[in-house]
Amino acid sequence: MLRILLAISLIFGLAVSAGAQDSTTATDSMDRSSTGGATTLEDILRRQEGLQVDPEYRRSNTGSADAAADITQQLGTLGGASESDVFRALRYGTADISVTSRSPAAGTIIQDGGIWWLQAREGWLATYGAYLLGGTLVLLTMFYVLRGKIRIEGQSGVSTILRFTTFERFGHWLFAGSFLILGLTGLLTLFGRKVVIPLLGHDAFSTIAIASKWVHNNISWAFMLGLIIITVNWIAHNIPNRLDLVWLSKAGGLFSKGVHPPARKFNAGQKMIFWGCVVLGVSISASGLSLLFPFELPMFAKTFAVLNSTGLPQLVGLGTLPEVMAPQEEMQYAQLWHSIVAFVFMAMIFAHIYIGSVGMEGAIDAMTTGEVDTQWAKEHHSLWVAEVEEADRAAAAKAGQVSPAE
Ligand code: HEM
Repeated sequence: MLRILLAISLIFGLAVSAGAQDSTTATDSMDRSSTGGATTLEDILRRQEGLQVDPEYRRSNTGSADAAADITQQLGTLGGASESDVFRALRYGTADISVTSRSPAAGTIIQDGGIWWLQAREGWLATYGAYLLGGTLVLLTMFYVLRGKIRIEGQSGVSTILRFTTFERFGHWLFAGSFLILGLTGLLTLFGRKVVIPLLGHDAFSTIAIASKWVHNNISWAFMLGLIIITVNWIAHNIPNRLDLVWLSKAGGLFSKGVHPPARKFNAGQKMIFWGCVVLGVSISASGLSLLFPFELPMFAKTFAVLNSTGLPQLVGLGTLPEVMAPQEEMQYAQLWHSIVAFVFMAMIFAHIYIGSVGMEGAIDAMTTGEVDTQWAKEHHSLWVAEVEEADRAAAAKAGQVSPAE
């Protein structure tokens, strides 16, 4: 009978609010004094009928201790609160609990944002990440089919010129080699359940996942060292200048044969790769360190506070970003950011590897022997060749071999 009455009053209530009014408004004004502010029978009935119930009241009010049943009565052990009230308080972090563990995250028994993160990681992150990498490979294949290998156009094989010293090449391969291993083990961690388990089974994946995690965590130091070395070695050659605009306006001659815009040691395309490596490398290292030392290096709440103060997130429709978060939430944001940066980084590096190997004749020599064909160098880095030749002449003149004017 009570149910029928409630249902009638509900229907009536909704009807007078012209049907269009948000049903949460009705629940907000509900009288919950009989339960000391906790869930009422009416709330339960509304939920059973599929009507919306504003969950906010649960966050702030999980029942009154004063209205608690005596310890000897039914519900006595939980006081006035039902079990679901207790779990809800745990979920929203309002339960009055104490834990013996001193870990910063131990006080969070249920973490409300965890499901959102899990779904994001297995959902859009994996899906769009795979699209980005797959799409980049398709584009590069199309470029190769349409443009073909970029050949040395003049007379090659006459002489060579030293492009990168042993130390420069060491820095490159430390950075590149560790990056490739990190990329592979990172992808295994993200896609392992979906891809490796169906192929090799749980036992094999367990071994692979453990090894993968160990390698990923430890190789990260080589990557960071490589990042420092390449930055120190090449930063001076990568300062943007007006010449880069000319190079960019001609798309570096990548799409047309016989076009070779002048460049010094690094052209504008390489400068973009260099700065991409530095910016993404620093960002991926910072979020990686945050993951490597759980709960010790939280950085997202602070970053979000700074971003909020600029007004940018609000401007692009993201609203105010959370400035207070559970320790686990910090880790979850670090994981998502680490992966997003990794996907962008990998897509960029796919293009770099393409142009440094199969895409351009003569390029790879710069990073193997360090000596490139002088004709290749004149076509792609004409001003750099002129600088090197001038420096050689000056050095020879100083040594008294030839005159500087020669
Ligand atoms: C196996 C894969 C790779 C190959 C074949 C390769 C090849 C090359 C070559 C040939 C150069 C010199 C280009 C020139 O002489 O002008 C170069 C430069 C460079 N590489 Fe790689 N590389 C590889 C992987 C990577 C990776 C994984 C990274 C970073 C994560 C990287 C970062 C750089 C940077 C920053 C430069 C200097 C800027 C530039 O030339 O774009 N490389 N690489």
